[in-house]
Amino acid sequence: MELDETAPTSAEIEALAQRIDRPVVLVGMMGVGKSSVGRKLAAVLHVPFVDADEEIEAAAQMTIPEIFERFGEAHFRDGERRVIQRLVDGGRKVIATGGGAFVNAETRALILDRAIAVWLDSDVETLLERVGRKDNRPLLKQGDPREILTRLREERRTAYEQAPIHVISTRGPHGRTLDKVLKGIQAWL
Ligand code: S3P
Repeated sequence: MELDETAPTSAEIEALAQRIDRPVVLVGMMGVGKSSVGRKLAAVLHVPFVDADEEIEAAAQMTIPEIFERFGEAHFRDGERRVIQRLVDGGRKVIATGGGAFVNAETRALILDRAIAVWLDSDVETLLERVGRKDNRPLLKQGDPREILTRLREERRTAYEQAPIHVISTRGPHGRTLDKVLKGIQAWL
C-alpha cells in the first residue's frame, strides 16, 4: 500500500484511536525499532504498551539469553506463543514482539486473527547499527551479526509479508516511522 508522506494531524490521530478496537502488534527484525516506535504509538493512541520479550522474561523469571542457553530456542518459542496469546486476548494495547515471534506459524495465525499486525522493516545496515546498542540477543552471538541479520531477514520475509501493514523504517528519528505506522493503520481500517 502506498502512503502519502504527510504527518497525521492530532484530530486524525484522535479519530484513529477511537476506531482501533484490537491490539496493534509490531513485528519485524531485531533492531528495527519495534519497542521504541511501539512506546510512542501507545502514547498517542492512549493505550498501554507491552514488550513481549519483557513479559516472557517476567513469566520465566529468567533473561532471554538464559532461556536460550538452558532450554533452547524451541522452548523459548513455545513460551513466546503463550505470552503473546495472553497479551492479544487482553484488550486494546500496543505490543512489540521479538523478531522471531511472527515467523512461528501458530503465533502468526493468532496475531493475524485477533490483532492489527504492522511489519516494521529496515535495511541490514540500519538493523546492524541499531542492534549494536544492546548485547542481549542470543541469535546474534552465533556468528557474524551482519551475515545473521542478512540471512534471517531473507528467511523471514515471507512470514513478515503476511502482515497487512508494511512500514519502512529509515535511519533517523523514530517519529517519522510513527507517522507512517499511523497512516498505515488509518488506510487499512
Ligand atoms: C529474536 C529477537 C529478540 C528476542 C530473541 C529472539 C529473534 O527480540 O525475542 O532474542 O528471533 O529475532 P527483538 O526483536 O526485540 O530483538
